[in-house]
Amino acid sequence: MSTAIIVTIDGPAGVGKTTLAKRVADALGVAYLDTGAMFRATALILGHGADQLPENELDARLADIHFSLSGSGSVSTLSVHGRVIGDEIRSEEVGMMASTVGTLPRVRSFLKEQQQAVGAVTSLVAEGRDMGTVVFPRASAKIFLDAAPEIRARRRVDQLHEMGKPADLSEITEQIRARDHQDRNRAIAPLKPAEDAHIIDTGPLDIEGVFQAIMAVIKK
Ligand code: DC
Repeated sequence: MSTAIIVTIDGPAGVGKTTLAKRVADALGVAYLDTGAMFRATALILGHGADQLPENELDARLADIHFSLSGSGSVSTLSVHGRVIGDEIRSEEVGMMASTVGTLPRVRSFLKEQQQAVGAVTSLVAEGRDMGTVVFPRASAKIFLDAAPEIRARRRVDQLHEMGKPADLSEITEQIRARDHQDRNRAIAPLKPAEDAHIIDTGPLDIEGVFQAIMAVIKK
């Protein structure tokens, strides 16, 4: 039997999962699995119109995709076809493409298998939408981060401004709402907290506050 320890961190777009998951992985000395990056990379590889492909063609194209995870903590590195996945997946457009391929049952079951295979041999902090509900239902600790769309959009705008990039608050709020709607309402593995998840409202907290709240749950 596997002795890998799994901590799941789920939640909607822009809630700070990646920053927190990396910090928690560093604190625990385990690897960090960004499953959103797997959906994003898969969406880019399949390209636009993936949801229109005949099932046999989709299966054949998925069978060609191979992910691997190396390293530990915040420097855990996810590769596809041996190439490190970089910033090319980080646009909101690719986020929406990922959300769309995430509605396809075949894509979900393909990625679930890959994610579970990693978790079977490696202790992980796994970040996504369905980590606690579907992929790792027996995880040691399950966290669900939440915050209102307006708060998440404001944080994102501040982040982009800090990077010197232009950002429009109402446009980003709309994008976040659209992605939330698609992620929460899909038929398979919709975004929702597992029954045994600890829900943390990140609205009134800063990163340090959320980190401490997560570590308190894990220590328990
Ligand atoms: O976490 P993220 O923004 O990188 O995820 C991009 C999209 O991928 C998200 O809107 C929905 C999909 N996704 C998913 O369906 N299941 C996951 N476990 C992770 C991401």
